[in-house]
Amino acid sequence: MDLIDAIYARHSVRAYTGQTVGGAIRLQLEALAQELSRAGGLTLSFRWDEPRAFSSPLAHYGKFSQVTNYLVISGRRRKGLEQDAGYYGERIVLEAQRLGLNSCWVATTAKRRLVRASIPEGESLVILVAIGHGENAGVVRRSKVASQVSNVGADTPPWFARAVEAALLAPTSINQQKFHLAFCAGDPGELPGVRLTRRFGPYSSVDEGIVRLHVEIAARDAAGLGPHELPFHWIER
Ligand SMILES: Cc1cc2nc3c(=O)[nH]c(=O)nc-3n(C[C@H](O)[C@H](O)[C@H](O)COP(=O)(O)O)c2cc1C
Repeated sequence: MDLIDAIYARHSVRAYTGQTVGGAIRLQLEALAQELSRAGGLTLSFRWDEPRAFSSPLAHYGKFSQVTNYLVISGRRRKGLEQDAGYYGERIVLEAQRLGLNSCWVATTAKRRLVRASIPEGESLVILVAIGHGENAGVVRRSKVASQVSNVGADTPPWFARAVEAALLAPTSINQQKFHLAFCAGDPGELPGVRLTRRFGPYSSVDEGIVRLHVEIAARDAAGLGPHELPFHWIER
């Protein structure tokens, strides 16, 4: 399964079977987490076989059951930390999907104080991701349409339409999908630009990073480019 397939296959899953995640899979995810932590300047670390964070009535009310593994994303407070948490965390989410696991981003429905006690000194907890063998693969949820979140149209290239489609498949906090993607044609001989903006909403800066990763993966795939190439450049705000 490629990353693009993982984008289409992924849905939030909150009920898990309790089956332990095998050692080989743990090692692969741990290795990727280490690599991404270095690249992103944050800390992505797994807690395996640790049921306490999701054992509260709040977690059960939030429909979580048998969550015993989760990813913790933390970092030193700085501009862009939340976006990076979304971008690099979603890379782990998609890798987990490729490896046959399921996941759910978790901002509020866990014991944050308990998790906070275990993160590196001087870092802030951004967010968690529950990971494991799901009771099922999750369900397709309602979504905005491309015209609500972008300027996709007859004048925009096919890779942009695919990128917007992948952005609409991105998990967002309370399914808010509060982002907008604008294609901006470049001068002749120059790469076009894409501007990603977010609207105000809880955790919409984490959402922004997640959407950014989906856009890059889909645009690259649709344009037939290599792992580090893109058919556009990001227009930073
Ligand atoms: C930043 C972020 C925070 C989230 N926090 C929670 C949470 O605290 N509890 C929960 O049940 N789901 C949470 N979710 C999952 C969203 O509700 C879910 O991604 C959204 O409804 C879209 O559904 P999908 O992931 O199946 O595409 C969160 C998702 C994101 C991206």
